[in-house]
Amino acid sequence: MEIEFVPQGPVEGEALSAIAAPVFEGEILTPAGEALDGASGGALSRAMGSGRFNGDKDQMLDLLAPAGLHAARVVLVGAGPQGALDELGIERWAAGAYNAVKTSGVSALELRLADLTDAQAARAAFGARLAAYRFDRYRTKEKPERKPSVTKLRVSCSDPAAATAAFGSLAALGDAIVFARDLVSEPANILYPQEFARRVKQLEALGLEVEVLGEAEMTELGMGSLLGVGQGSVRESQLAVLTWRGADDPNAPPIAFVGKGVCFDTGGISIKPAQGMEEMKTDMGGAAAVAGVMHVLAGRKAKVNAVGILGLVENMPDGNAIRPGDILTSMSGQTIEVINTDAEGRLVLADAIWYCQERFKPRSLIDLATLTGAIVVALGDDIGGLYSNDESLAACLLEASAGEDELLWRMPLHKPYDKKLDSLAADVKNITGGRAGGSVTAALFIQRFVTSSSWAHLDIAPVAWKSGPGSPTIPEGASGFGVRLLNRLVADHYEDKPSQ
Ligand code: BES
Ligand code: MN
Ligand code: ZN
Repeated sequence: MEIEFVPQGPVEGEALSAIAAPVFEGEILTPAGEALDGASGGALSRAMGSGRFNGDKDQMLDLLAPAGLHAARVVLVGAGPQGALDELGIERWAAGAYNAVKTSGVSALELRLADLTDAQAARAAFGARLAAYRFDRYRTKEKPERKPSVTKLRVSCSDPAAATAAFGSLAALGDAIVFARDLVSEPANILYPQEFARRVKQLEALGLEVEVLGEAEMTELGMGSLLGVGQGSVRESQLAVLTWRGADDPNAPPIAFVGKGVCFDTGGISIKPAQGMEEMKTDMGGAAAVAGVMHVLAGRKAKVNAVGILGLVENMPDGNAIRPGDILTSMSGQTIEVINTDAEGRLVLADAIWYCQERFKPRSLIDLATLTGAIVVALGDDIGGLYSNDESLAACLLEASAGEDELLWRMPLHKPYDKKLDSLAADVKNITGGRAGGSVTAALFIQRFVTSSSWAHLDIAPVAWKSGPGSPTIPEGASGFGVRLLNRLVADHYEDKPSQ
């Protein structure tokens, strides 16, 4: 979808376009909305007066071919109480407007926001863009009339140049979210570890450094835990290392992100049931979020040093696959007894995190992983689990989470459970005896490989993929969860402030 910020054109609009205007609670139009109402001979106020539409959030009133206007339709979209429209509110408003007309046949949507601020106009464009995301690369037979008709978004605003400038960093964020969503949406026959690495290699065009380690290099480094997971696959395991140096001091310690990139999780020899297994193409959602956050930091030239590490493997059952009872030696030197080959994400993270700490000595380290079904049981479909050994980092993450509507809930790293991970045959085992607290014990397993005093683990199994529409800005499918949240964390707490 093409996005333009324009001064408001003729009040009547254009043929084949839809105009969306905000209405505040109590049927309050903006001055631009009043002008539309006037041009239509009061059609808007009559329509509002003859139904339940009041301007409440998410309410919608669609007027077709209104007399006096050239526009094919006018959508009045509720914006809630006047003066209470925050950043997320305006995004949601614009996404609602887009969703209301996207398959209506109009080719252009104008958001009539001349009375809002330029920052709000930029936010609106961002919201509509997220709503317009669609993964249709492999649909070859879709009838044109089933495809979205809106290909142009025009945001009419008071100062198009200022709105365009305000949109800059949001456009970078939008690109990064789309990049992450595409990675998660791709099927595993297309997006296997080497292909994933190839796609992140292309981010060098944004100024990132991207190194890719293969199995030979990882064997050399002693990454027996990560390599153990990949050994049943015909696809070669990879470790991608993305570096962004944007801080005033290029050698200042970075913030680090580590992502679980299991391109497909069959469970391995501890194979999963067939029902729903296709969703395990999304088991690289942590790695996709890390690639996405590195994408946006480079895209908006963030004043920070950051590192992204992606542990990319495929977990398959095979004659060469690891077996329950096998013992792996991790890069840390700790030996791991594999009780269940389906608890593979933690095995990947153990080595990826160790490598990250050894090489980069990060300020903070945040790992993201679609790690456990247990966190879905605990928190449901909308909220990810947050574990941290650093109160201040945890608080900053919760604050960023609320600010971006990517919800997290803090979970306990309850020490007494840790001893359940002791193994008879090795230093640690990859699961405990029972299912109780499965997400907590997974986090505790990871903590055995953490030396950083500022670490957080996000179990994003509930939120990486939406099985129905998630929200107006998150269509069904890949959410890109984590990109917004971590981008804000960096912006608010890790970037150098511009010197005055
Ligand atoms: N990738 C899964 C977790 C998952 C479940 C992600 C649902 C997204 C949606 C993970 O590798 C896994 O299989 N975890 C097991 C752990 C168990 C064997 C201890 C689980 O949650 O059942
Ligand atoms: Mn698994
Ligand atoms: Zn998994």
